[in-house]
Formats: sequence, C-alpha cells, structure tokens
Amino acid sequence: MEEIVSLCKRRGFIYQGSEIYGGLAGTWDYGPLGVELKRNVMNAWWRFFVEQRDDMYGVDAAIIMNPKTWVASGHTATFSDPLVECKNCHSRFRADKIDLNDKCPVCGQKDWSEVRQFNMMFETNVGPVKDDKSTAYLRPETAQGIFTNYKNVLDSFYPDLPFGIAQTGKAFRNEISPRDFIFRSREFEQMEIEYFVDPEAWSENFDKLLADIYKFLDQMGIPKDKIHELEVPEADRAHYSKRTIDIEFDFPIGREELLGLAYRTDFDLQNIARESGKSMEYRPKDTSKQPFVPHVIEPSFGVERLIMAILTTAYTQDGDRTYLKLPKSIAPVEKVVSPLLKNKPELVSKACEVYDSLKTAGQKVMWDDSGNIGKRYAKADEIGVPECIVVDFTTLEDDTITIRDRDTTEQKRVKISEIS
Ligand code: GAP
Repeated sequence: MEEIVSLCKRRGFIYQGSEIYGGLAGTWDYGPLGVELKRNVMNAWWRFFVEQRDDMYGVDAAIIMNPKTWVASGHTATFSDPLVECKNCHSRFRADKIDLNDKCPVCGQKDWSEVRQFNMMFETNVGPVKDDKSTAYLRPETAQGIFTNYKNVLDSFYPDLPFGIAQTGKAFRNEISPRDFIFRSREFEQMEIEYFVDPEAWSENFDKLLADIYKFLDQMGIPKDKIHELEVPEADRAHYSKRTIDIEFDFPIGREELLGLAYRTDFDLQNIARESGKSMEYRPKDTSKQPFVPHVIEPSFGVERLIMAILTTAYTQDGDRTYLKLPKSIAPVEKVVSPLLKNKPELVSKACEVYDSLKTAGQKVMWDDSGNIGKRYAKADEIGVPECIVVDFTTLEDDTITIRDRDTTEQKRVKISEIS
C-alpha cells in the first residue's frame, strides 16, 4: 500500500488535499495522470451502463438539494456513526471500530466519553442569512438526485419498466476517521444507478445487475478471485434495504467493501411522495393494469475505491521492473514517443511528426527524450503506458518505428502508417 501511495504522489496521480497548508484530513487531489485515469474509469462506466444500453437515462443533479430531500430519505434522522471521545486527549473515534475495553490508541489512557450518534452530513447555508431556515447539506450520496428526478424523466421520456437513471459525481461525508489513502475520504465520487422495476420482478433484475457489475469489473482488469460477495445480514443493512450484496475486494489493507448492490424497495419513492405531495406512481401502457409505485435496485460504485482496486491489481513487480498493468482502455497515457537520440535533429523531427500525427488522431501521447531509452521505458512502465514508440536510424530509411509492449517488453518494427 505504501509503495502505491508513494508512486501515486511521485508520478502525479494523487496528492494529499491542500498539502501545501499541511493537508485537510480525508481530502485528496488528483494530479495530471490521476485525473486522466479517473475520467477514463468514469467514462468507461458511463459507456458500459448508460450509453451502450437502451434502458438507462443519465442525469446530473445539483449537489446542494432542498433539505427536505434528506428528511424524506432518512439521512437527517439516521445517517450517523457512533462517536466516542477520549476524555484525556480528546481524540475521537468511531465507537464501532475500536474496543472500548481497551485504552485510547493515541494517549494510552482509558477514559472514554459516552457514545453518541454523529450525523455525517456536511452542513452549509444557502443565501446570506445563517439560520435554521437556510441550512442545507452537501449531498452524502448521488442517489437522491436521481430519485428526485424520477418523475421528470418519466414525464419527458415515458420509459417502459424496467428502466434506470444513472448519475456520477461528488458525494460528501464528514467521516469520523477517514483512513487508508482514498479508501475512506470525506469528499469522494460515486457512480450510481437507480433501476426501477415491477415489484414482482425485483429478484431477476437484481441478478442481472449483479452479472453486469461483474462484466464491468472484468473490463477494469479486476480479477474474479480478488472479488467476494458479502450477503449483508439484516442487522447491518442500510435502513432502506431489503437485500444488499457488498462486493468486497482484497485490498492491501484487507478485504473491504468496493461497491454495493441494494434492493431499496419503494422506500425512497414512497417517502418522496409523502414529503412532496406528488404521486410517484408509474402508469403501465397497458391500461388494464393499475398504476403502482416501482421498486428500485441500486448498484452503487465508489470511484475512489474502484481506482484503488485498479491500481492495486495493476501494480506489478517483476525483478527490478515495476509497472502498472492497467487495461489499455483506461491507461492515462496511451503511447510515449521518443527519438532514439535527443541530439540528432533528423530523429527528433521525425519523432515529432509521429507524435503530432497520433495527437491529431486523438490519442493520449506523451513525449520523452530525457535520459537513455532504458530509463524512458522504466518511467513509462511505472505510469502504465501500454506502448512506447522509438524513432531510430532505420526509421529514416524505411519509415518504420519500434513499438515496445509494456507487459511483455517485446519490441516490434511497424510501419508508421500502421501505428494507430
Ligand atoms: N446510495 C447508496 C450508498 O451511498 P454506501 O454503501 O453508503 O451506499 C456506496 O456507498 C459506495 O460509495 C461504497 O460502496 C463505496 O464504494 C463508496 N463510499 C462510501 N463512503 C465512502 C467514503 N467515505 N470514501 C470513499 N468511498 C466511499
């Protein structure tokens, strides 16, 4: 884990948030390579779950929502973790994550406060006056921006059941103890779908979505033997769920939740109907059938955890060589282009031509003419570049270049016209 965190910082994937001012716990900044990786992952998710299907609709709702949203969803009343404080050193902990029979891990004393529930929503105020009426929250999940637009999508598109609405974007939780790099952050991104179904068909749709999740994880290069299904027992399920499967992954920090698949019943739509006074009923096109409130299956991905799983899987050490075996489709840089020697203008100019043509063709290419070729390959390996192209003296004779494969380190000679 330490090696991955160090690589992420050194090579510009992920930095500590506000590092220059000593950081801000639970926040992380994506650097030039990290932002490309994250966008590639999120775009791949959107392509797989939205664009390539006919039963999915996308939305992008506001992060700050009417506070009634969180009353209806149950977050105002129940979105809390148990908090305990050491009365001696005032360190705070999640009471369900430590043993209160033990001493405080920070100061070694044993003087615990009462356990109290701590609501994890970040509060803010809307408008210039700070009072109870102006209190609002940064959304703790993207899901509610989907539920509150269910009726809009229904009215605009009249979809047949089952259909889903997807949203990706930031979520905020004032976690008591953010930890383990980006695994538990206070600001993170989610990729969620609320899939609306006939209540009688919830189980088969649950299974179908579970199968889709596996297909997507496979595309992200995550091996099946590192993924485990946890059938969450009733006592541990979120307040809205009748069935939840947590997909866990063997992270370097241990086996932990990567994403969740939950059967939320009609919990949210019924609550919204009650709070808003608007009907959430679906009218079947077959008019002999009665209107009803659909039930919901929710696949919920955390982007940070997925990126952590992808990096963990990709990180490979082979003798002296360290490389990121990222799937080509999500690698932040697709190709590195180099002239064999930096001080030979004819090589540099030919390499520039190759570089420009790939860039114009829309590929993510990087230029590297520093150090020797071996060092360039090592640098490219470390950030997961699938292919390195070198322009050498043979290129000047026959318009071929060498392409070196990251995973096998094999080199092939290829005509420039055939590269892309
Ligand atoms: N809408 C349902 C929902 O939000 P959740 O289990 O609370 O369910 C879904 O969160 C996913 O969001 C988790 O499986 C995880 O991947 C991610 N997630 C939750 N809290 C997180 C945090 N503090 N830091 C990073 N990712 C988090």
